[in-house]
Amino acid sequence: MALDAVSYRDEYQRSISDPEGFWLEAATAVDWAVAPRQAHNGEQPPHGRWFADGELNTCYNALDRHIAAGRGDLPALIHDSAMTGTQRVYTYAELTDQVARFAGVLRAQGVGKGDRVLIYMPMIPEAAIAMLATARLGAIHSVVFGGFAASELAVRIQDAAPTVVVTTSGGLEPHRLVEYLPTVHEALGKAGVPELPVVIKHRDGFAADPAALGLNAVDWESALAAAEPAAPVPVKASDPLYILYTSGTTGAPKGVVRDNGGHAVALLWTMKNHYNIAPGDVWWTASDVGWVVGHSYIVYGPLLAGATTLMYEGKPVGTPDAGAFWRVIEQHKVKALFTAPTALRAIRKMDPEAELLKKYHVGSLETLFTAGERLDSDTYHWAGKVLGVPVVDHWWQTETGWPIVGNPRGLEPLPLKAGSPTVPMPGFDLRIVDGMGVDVAVGEEGNIVLGLPLPPGTLPTLWNDDQRFIDSYLSAFEGFYVTGDSGYQDEDGYVFVMGRTDDVINVAGHRLSTGAIEQVIGTHPAVAECAVIGIADVLKGQKAVGYVVLKSGVSLSPEDLQKELVALVRREIGPVADFKSAVVVEALPKTRSGKILRKTMRQIADGVDYVVPSTIEDSSVIDALMPVLRPS
Ligand code: COA
Ligand code: AMP
Repeated sequence: MALDAVSYRDEYQRSISDPEGFWLEAATAVDWAVAPRQAHNGEQPPHGRWFADGELNTCYNALDRHIAAGRGDLPALIHDSAMTGTQRVYTYAELTDQVARFAGVLRAQGVGKGDRVLIYMPMIPEAAIAMLATARLGAIHSVVFGGFAASELAVRIQDAAPTVVVTTSGGLEPHRLVEYLPTVHEALGKAGVPELPVVIKHRDGFAADPAALGLNAVDWESALAAAEPAAPVPVKASDPLYILYTSGTTGAPKGVVRDNGGHAVALLWTMKNHYNIAPGDVWWTASDVGWVVGHSYIVYGPLLAGATTLMYEGKPVGTPDAGAFWRVIEQHKVKALFTAPTALRAIRKMDPEAELLKKYHVGSLETLFTAGERLDSDTYHWAGKVLGVPVVDHWWQTETGWPIVGNPRGLEPLPLKAGSPTVPMPGFDLRIVDGMGVDVAVGEEGNIVLGLPLPPGTLPTLWNDDQRFIDSYLSAFEGFYVTGDSGYQDEDGYVFVMGRTDDVINVAGHRLSTGAIEQVIGTHPAVAECAVIGIADVLKGQKAVGYVVLKSGVSLSPEDLQKELVALVRREIGPVADFKSAVVVEALPKTRSGKILRKTMRQIADGVDYVVPSTIEDSSVIDALMPVLRPS
């Protein structure tokens, strides 16, 4: 099949041959305080910037300008909590009022342009309000996912050095209340800033008392009642809007920086051209504000576009059942849903014939988008069959902030192929190269790299660490950004993303570092060394498994050791690591230079073809591991 996608192809070609013209035109969708005259400043990373001479306020573009356009009474945000059974709708006028007043609260705490605000919140409207209020002041937010433990929160507090923390009493997980305040207290202590002001949105049902913990607490409600609303503060397009920490290959998370101008331009382009969403449409991203998907497509993208964003507190299954998503689509007339394949697999597992779907009218749904992990063809076919709508995979990462490869439903819907997120989006000069950086043949797997400069909205650098930015992404192949994923392109230019080439794994659509888990396991007194690998899992895509060599003379039973290691990882990284298996082994396979052969171990565990590197120190170690890696 040949691509006869004229307008996609034209747009894509124009973005590569004339990026200045392409992106300056896209930039007209933004309301600028000072319109940019130049798209890219022509500098090399880490100094390359988009729209460097432009000024804007992202919050103004997401809220106020829709009121100015007469859409103040349209719903901006619908909060639907399957956990509490409550729903709340904010119009653009109401949300703007809340955000302006909360910006006043932050300002009263000393937050100004360029200061950082750390937000540790579950899926409640106040999380979005805090993000937008920070942006309104020209300050920089850093949202931390609620499934991370105190140590992870502390690392982020230390690195971002916020002026204030915004949090709530807790989050609601099925069968469990997650108390946030003790975690915040512990994290502030670990980060050495126990006195930092903490704005707390009170939620009923949680036990922890901020005063008893000794937190420098500010009550959200009373501060809001007393606050002076703040007006949007224009910032340079290249000023940071947020820092979002993501897992790298080592224990230390990477602080991905997002700018204001490129971000607004790119997200507006995607809402129209990729997702086909216009003002007034109801758009639902079932993710979490703690992830990039939540930043781009729960908060900023839909609001910049003047659409209605649905924020869902709940799970795809068990809250109360596998019909939860269908209920939400019917009730709020959702036009498009964006979720992770693992959520669909969870629904399918509970309700393979989609019997629960019969209870609901989901006719408003036009498209189902998935990302966060590879969409396997079983799930693709199942979802397409039961819902009767196109199921559109698209591939991207925290670093890029928007789809690298997708299917531009608004510009020109391209034929779908199972297993492929379709084609590169404008601005992404995608190549597949071998280990030497040479283009591979059509159909051959290699490293997926992107030509520089990356398009607007992608990371200009890592927070406080230009060198790590260069070392991690730009030094392997001159002139290219390394995505860390491998894949191939077919004869039609369709991209197939096969998996990571590094030690990043993806569990239930959550990005984790095996290095970080190894670092925690290594602190256990019985452990001599360990390797953590992500092995294939039918529900969650991958699961982390630890292979542990004990110190000599240790008498702990394997069962007790596993229990202790599981508890340790949960305490140090958080429940999101979902670490459940630790296996004791005699030795780990290594190269002669001492590098553990994690990739070979993973390939054996996954039952795929593997080649044991000739540099292996002792091949009998692999033979001994076989029954452990692939138990019959
Ligand atoms: N706060 C605190 N704990 C959290 C949490 C949060 N925000 N999110 C998850 N957890 C906990 C879970 O409660 C669970 O704890 P447990 O070990 O006590 O049961 C643990 O972390 C692992 O969570 P998860 O891997 O999500 O498993 P699950 O069994 O709770 O749910 C799915 C499985 C598939 C339903 C769920 O993972 C899901 O909806 N995934 C979609 C992921 C997604 O949207 N990703 C965003 C990228 S697009
Ligand atoms: P994150 O930064 O958390 O969004 O995770 C990004 C990583 O998730 C990518 O580098 C991929 O490894 C994986 N990923 C995300 N979306 C997809 C997809 N549609 N297909 C395959 N892998 C994906």
